[in-house]
Amino acid sequence: MSPRHTNPVAVVTGGARRMGRQLCTTLAARGYDLVVLFRDSEAEARSLEQEIRDGGQRARAMAVDVAVEGQVARVFDDITSIEGRLDLLVNNVGNYNPQHVTQLDPAVWDATLAANLSGAFYCCYHALRLMTGGGNIVNIGMAGLEGIRANVHGTDYYVSKTGLLVLTRALAAAHAERQIRVNMVSPGQLENSIDLPPPHEIGASVPLGRAGSLRDVAQAVEYLLDAAYLTGVNIDVSGGYRL
Ligand SMILES: NC(=O)c1ccc[n+]([C@@H]2O[C@H](COP(=O)([O-])OP(=O)(O)OC[C@H]3O[C@@H](n4cnc5c(N)ncnc54)[C@H](OP(=O)(O)O)[C@@H]3O)[C@@H](O)[C@H]2O)c1
Repeated sequence: MSPRHTNPVAVVTGGARRMGRQLCTTLAARGYDLVVLFRDSEAEARSLEQEIRDGGQRARAMAVDVAVEGQVARVFDDITSIEGRLDLLVNNVGNYNPQHVTQLDPAVWDATLAANLSGAFYCCYHALRLMTGGGNIVNIGMAGLEGIRANVHGTDYYVSKTGLLVLTRALAAAHAERQIRVNMVSPGQLENSIDLPPPHEIGASVPLGRAGSLRDVAQAVEYLLDAAYLTGVNIDVSGGYRL
């Protein structure tokens, strides 16, 4: 396959809003052309596409439900024929709808695992076939996965993120000889977290005494892209949360 883009190409899942959007604009500023994947947020995805193009990079937004393997396959087929190369995949989709484990609806369990874990696997599976000249995968986890404790609210979410860490390490080991690095960035309590404590209480759970910003997370992703000797690592970006 001869690459049609001279710039490196990055795919970001759930890229239209919030963290995904920050990651897309950060990567565009580093010289990546972007494929922004969204599910429902078409207006935000189109405005991001325009913002990135105005900044001088190429950008293309595509709708996909990452939980449906056939849709993921079509997206990557499309990237093969249009961009002709892939250098970076960021699996940013991560649905968090906390229910107490004693009340956890099986349909919520299935949906969380399908989007957060199977969806990431499907994207890795198809992306890895396109990364013929080396590459990077960054999976977005959650802080505290090492030595995880009981979490009775959002157990489905914690299971999905633990599985994602296992997947990260397995793919890192399996694809290192192809010069493909697979790492994880795990945010703690961010300024936009749905269960953020009030500012005067945050020091009780976050030793650095503040919520994290989207920029803090993007910085860790950039670090991993620069750190050519790192693979299979998980970086908590959490101000010491759950130390
Ligand atoms: N925010 C935090 O405080 C925090 C803390 C720890 C970890 N994290 C992790 O950081 C990542 C980003 O967090 P966030 O709060 O920015 O995420 P978010 O707003 O909850 O979700 C990001 C995007 O995922 C997309 N999405 C959801 N299900 C999808 C599916 N089945 N197929 C395709 N796209 C789907 C949605 O796209 P559409 O809008 O287009 O539908 C959504 O905008 C997640 O992995 C999360 O677990 C976040």
